[in-house]
Amino acid sequence: MKKIIVSSLVLFMSLAGVAHAAGDAEAGKEMATTVCAGCHGADGNSMVPLFPSLAGQGEKYIAKQIADFKAMTTRKDDTMVGMAAMLATEQDALNVGAFYASQKLNSTAPVDESKLALGREIYKGGNLQTGVPACQGCHGPDGAGNSAAGYPQLAGQFTDYTIKQMRAFKDGSRSNDDRKIMRNALQSMTEAELEAVAQYIASLK
Ligand code: HEC
Ligand code: HEC
Repeated sequence: MKKIIVSSLVLFMSLAGVAHAAGDAEAGKEMATTVCAGCHGADGNSMVPLFPSLAGQGEKYIAKQIADFKAMTTRKDDTMVGMAAMLATEQDALNVGAFYASQKLNSTAPVDESKLALGREIYKGGNLQTGVPACQGCHGPDGAGNSAAGYPQLAGQFTDYTIKQMRAFKDGSRSNDDRKIMRNALQSMTEAELEAVAQYIASLK
């Protein structure tokens, strides 16, 4: 028993160490509040449904997305490829990531209440019949994600953005999920379930 506690403590500390080691929020602030602010909001809270909010998002996840946009293979976006190029090094991406991670999510995403019951059911418990896993297993009961593990925060995101990403994983046009985690998770999800879960995600604030 003691051994288990000790080893999970060591694991926890090393994960926390990884998340901590990297970015410098102060160094990332200027880029974020000038260049990126135009679309993602000065404090990382987007006002536009297809521009994701980054406030409170994990540093490691943000830096990974920047690297993936740059590589133009597993996540492609014409706008973001140019923006990512402005962050010359991995350290620059981590700094911007640390800035956003330090900001407070303040979502203004509208929600269609009529879809929340189904959305909650899928988010909390998945769909046993069709093999859809519970989203909260990785993204957390409140959608805050798990920053050390690189599982993104989803809470409060506009439904348009969330639905676009889910469809992209489903049809494989976004394939930057290690071990096909998301492509497999969404494979057998219906369009109605997908829309409902996006509404539930938008309602998590
Ligand atoms: C002209 C608008 C625009 C600007 C400026 C912009 N972005 Fe983006 N960003 C987008 C769009 C649109 C997406 C969503 C792309 C998609 O649909 O996959 C995005 C996605 C992202 C993502 C992925 C978020 C997620 O949840 O997966 C990150 C990280 C990001 N941007 C960081 C930045 C940074 C850092 C800057 C500044 C250097 C920046 N962006 C500047 C429009 C912009
Ligand atoms: C086994 C863990 C796991 C499960 C279960 C899971 N996800 Fe994910 N999800 C991830 C990871 C990891 C990523 C990030 C992949 C990457 O690096 O880009 C992700 C990314 C996403 C994104 C993109 C976020 C963004 O900002 O672009 C959405 C949306 C999403 N998941 C929704 C869901 C939904 C809805 C469910 C439940 C049906 C679900 N996920 C279940 C691990 C998981």
